Formats: sequence, structure tokens, C-alpha cells
Amino acid sequence: MFDFEYYAPTRVIFGRGAEARTGQLLKELSVSRVLIHYGGGSVVRSGLLDRVTASLDEAGVVHTQLGGVVPNPRLSKVREGAELARRFGAELILAVGGGSVIDSSKAIGYALADPDHDVWDLYCGKRKAIGCFPVACVLTIAAAGSEMSNSSVITNEETGEKRGYRDNKCRVKVAVMNPELTVTLPDYQTAAGCTDIMMHTIERYFTQGGNMELTDRIAEGLLRTVMKSALILRDDPANYEARAEVMWAGSLSHNDLTGLGANGMDFVSHGLEHELGGMFDVTHGAGLSAVWPSWARYVYKDCLPRFVQFAVNVMDVAPKATDEETALAGIAALENFFRSIHMPVTLKELGVEPTEEQILSMAASCARGAGGKKGTAKVLYEADMAAIYRMAL
Ligand code: NZQ
Ligand code: ZN
Repeated sequence: MFDFEYYAPTRVIFGRGAEARTGQLLKELSVSRVLIHYGGGSVVRSGLLDRVTASLDEAGVVHTQLGGVVPNPRLSKVREGAELARRFGAELILAVGGGSVIDSSKAIGYALADPDHDVWDLYCGKRKAIGCFPVACVLTIAAAGSEMSNSSVITNEETGEKRGYRDNKCRVKVAVMNPELTVTLPDYQTAAGCTDIMMHTIERYFTQGGNMELTDRIAEGLLRTVMKSALILRDDPANYEARAEVMWAGSLSHNDLTGLGANGMDFVSHGLEHELGGMFDVTHGAGLSAVWPSWARYVYKDCLPRFVQFAVNVMDVAPKATDEETALAGIAALENFFRSIHMPVTLKELGVEPTEEQILSMAASCARGAGGKKGTAKVLYEADMAAIYRMAL
């Protein structure tokens, strides 16, 4: 077990009708002027935005709005939001939506805290944030885990780069989570969300050492619960209990809990997906399932004990004659699970067919973004990344 620091400062308000408390919760933060940030309109159509603004009005919290955040949120919208928030005198950004809206809000928060520098500098690794304006959220999709993570991911549409920036300064102050709000999600987004949630734990599970038994059991329990719930939701999207399990799993999967004591995080699949997102604008969770089986088959021999444990404890594989066979059966079982919830397991199924030139460009960008190499299951370089993209075709 390696030493660790655990920091999860977000106040979570979880359950039916929780959004009605939003105004009061912001009041408790001594906030009186708020920028409400949202996406492409689902929160308008569902009536959620009206309920949230009514709650703010009741609590005497003055607000303005900026919608139009798209999945793979854009830098230009961040700049627009920062400008509006500054003019309005906002004291907090209230994200009403999913990971994209929360990430855009966090980036606006960084921009507001440091008006003298370009916020993109953070995402391309040029400097660290000096602060972040407070962010709160009303979550509408279980997926990215941004409501409790220290991360935000922004796409610079001018360069086609999708980059993440991790910093505890952006942790959400209050996360309002009502699982009922996720019932209106398209099936594809529900399944992609479950995939992303699983991947945040899987990226922490495949390491070379330092693993804690307790952390492993939490991780394995989370993965099993999400798989069970994803199948329930595939057949019964309105099932509240399954919605609730998945929503809470989404937060725990990316607030560092499922990796405590390990020697770092792998996150190569995420790195590969971010390039696909930047170049082809794919849905994040679907991009992850499209590359994971190829990543796993590329690295499993270098991380064999963990792949065997995963196969047996998570995928219920009966041990085979050799560890390699057991590991490969575990990989195939997860691949089949992704298929069963209609997630792609190749790039072609994802709907993208990159040319060799595009593969080389994505691999170079992925390696560059990670400082040349990435991975804890196996350290990978640019040529490895290109090889995995080719395997995933
Ligand atoms: O924009 P609207 O109209 O709201 O529609 C959204 C969007 O089209 C829709 N949606 C969300 N809630 C809904 C709903 N539709 C109907 N009913 C609802 N209740 O779903 C679509 C996807 O929304 P988005 O916010 O993009 O989803 P998600 O939460 O999966 O976020 C994805 C983004 O988060 C990043 C991803 O890379 C991607 O950019 N990530 C952020 C992380 C973080 N900050 O910690 C970690 C992740 O690994 C990830 O990289
Ligand atoms: Zn993710």
C-alpha cells in the first residue's frame, strides 16, 4: 500500500426532488449572484431549468444564464461564459447538466480567478491555476464524475485538441443529485455514462502494485453494481433504484476512492479517447469502450496478476489452465458486456475510420499531452499508442 492523501470536499445532496433545495444551498454558501450554465436544451425541455430558477428566486439569489455547452465542451464557450460572468458580477457558476457543463463551468471559474492569463494555458500544461471561482451543480447524467472530481476537460476547437486539467481548486462546492433527472436520457447516453463510470475505476485498477485489499473490494463492488444496473436500465430505463446506484457510482468512481493506495493511475484509454474526441467529436464513454479491449490485449501480459484478479472477481470467469487464458477470458467478458449494452468495441463500430496519418497524429498528440509516456499497467509511448489505435480499427 502506498501512502495517499484523500480530499473529497464536495457537499452532496442526493435524492428525489433535491433540485428544489438549490437556492437555499447557494444561500448557505453566502452567494447572491449566480451564472447558470447549461447545455443544448435538455434542461429547458424537461422543465428542470425553470424549477432551479424558481428555487433561486425563492431564496433571493439573482441569476443570469448561458446555455449552449456541447458535449466535448468548447473553449470559445468558456471565454463567453467568463466574459458574461464578469460583467454580471457572478459569485458562483451553477452548472445544470452533465460533465460537459460542469467542466465548462470549472474552466470559467479558472478564467475568472485569473483574468490576466489565457485559461487554455492550464489545459496545455503551461502553468497552474492560482484559483477558481466557486462552482456548484445540479447533475443530469451519471457519467463523467466531474461533480466530485478535480478534473475538467475542454476542447480547443481552433486546434482540435481535447485536454484535461486536474487541480483541487475546482472541486464542486455543492452537488445536487436527483437520479430521477436522468430518466430522460437517451439510451445511448445512459450506456455511455455507465461505460465511463466503469472506466474511471478500471483506469485505477490496472496498476503494478501498492493495491489495497479494501480499495480493490470497493472497486470490484462498484464495477459489478454498475454492470448489473446498466443491464437493468437497458431493459427498464425508468428504474429509479438502478438510476440511483449508477449516479452514486459515477461520483465515487472519479473522486479517487477506487484508487487509494495504488501506485498511480493508468488512464491510457482516456488519453486515447481524448484524441478521438478532439478529432472526431465522439461520445466520451463510447470512445472508451471502442479502445479499451485493444488496450487491454496490448498490455495484459505486463500486468497479468491484476488481469487475472479482474477476470475472476469482476467478470466471474472460472480460472483457466493458464493465467494468460484467464486474463484473456476476462477481457473478452468485458468486451461482451459492452456489446450487450450497445457500446462499440472497435473504432469502426464507433463510426470513425482514421487514416494512418490521423492515427500517427493522434498518437503523437496523446504522447505529447502526457509528456512523452503514459500508463501504470504498462508504460506506453507514441508507437504503442499508434499500435493500439490500429488494433482497434
Ligand atoms: O446538452 P444537453 O441538451 O443537456 O444534452 C446532453 C448531451 O447531449 C445530454 N443530457 C444530459 N443530461 C440529460 C441529457 N439528455 C436528456 N436528459 C438528461 N437528463 O447528454 C449528452 C451528453 O452530456 P455530457 O455532459 O457531454 O455528458 P457527460 O457527463 O458524459 O460528459 C462528457 C464530458 O466530460 C468529460 C468528457 O471527456 C466529455 O467532454 N470528462 C470529464 C471528466 C471530469 N471532469 O472529471 C472525466 C471524464 O473522464 C471525462 O473525460
Ligand atoms: Zn471518463
